[in-house]
Amino acid sequence: MVSFTINDKKLQVEQGATILEAAQSEGIKIPTLCYHKELKPYGACRLCLVEIVGGGRKGLEASCVYKVTEGLEVKTDTDRVKRTRKILFELLLARCPDSAEKVKKLAKEYGVTETRIKLKDKTNCILCGLCMRVCAEVSQRSAQSFSSRGINRKVQTPFDKLSEKCIGCGACAYLCPLESLTIEEAD
Ligand code: FES
Repeated sequence: MVSFTINDKKLQVEQGATILEAAQSEGIKIPTLCYHKELKPYGACRLCLVEIVGGGRKGLEASCVYKVTEGLEVKTDTDRVKRTRKILFELLLARCPDSAEKVKKLAKEYGVTETRIKLKDKTNCILCGLCMRVCAEVSQRSAQSFSSRGINRKVQTPFDKLSEKCIGCGACAYLCPLESLTIEEAD
């Protein structure tokens, strides 16, 4: 077991537990978009950030990938966390203005109802990777993956064609937080 402090409360968790898992087991709410308990954590959306205030490298960290260590001191709701989370929500709303009901709902829970950020390129994908991770880890097909880098990064099938590996299980569409994916019959 590992002892640590979260929001000034001392806790013990299993070795290897992440801060997010520890927080959730205590009923502490932390927003997530790219996390799913059946998949390997990925740390893409950063919404789950918390502040490490002692016992480790101080600063903001994604709680879904950060493992609890002995003596760690974590706060989940500092001003710095709230400020940064707000900007992240605003960026997500700016990036996906049309297809982000789930994001909008979650943002509203954290007091963000609009964005001050203007982006030229809008999309319906937040690059959370849930679709390709469930495809690889659960369906064991790897029918899609990330391509390109930076602002051109996107999820696509090989050569953007109907993937021969896809079995149409629909797991990708089911997990997409923006409900951007639909399953269609092939011609
Ligand atoms: S839920 Fe942790 S980075 Fe997305």
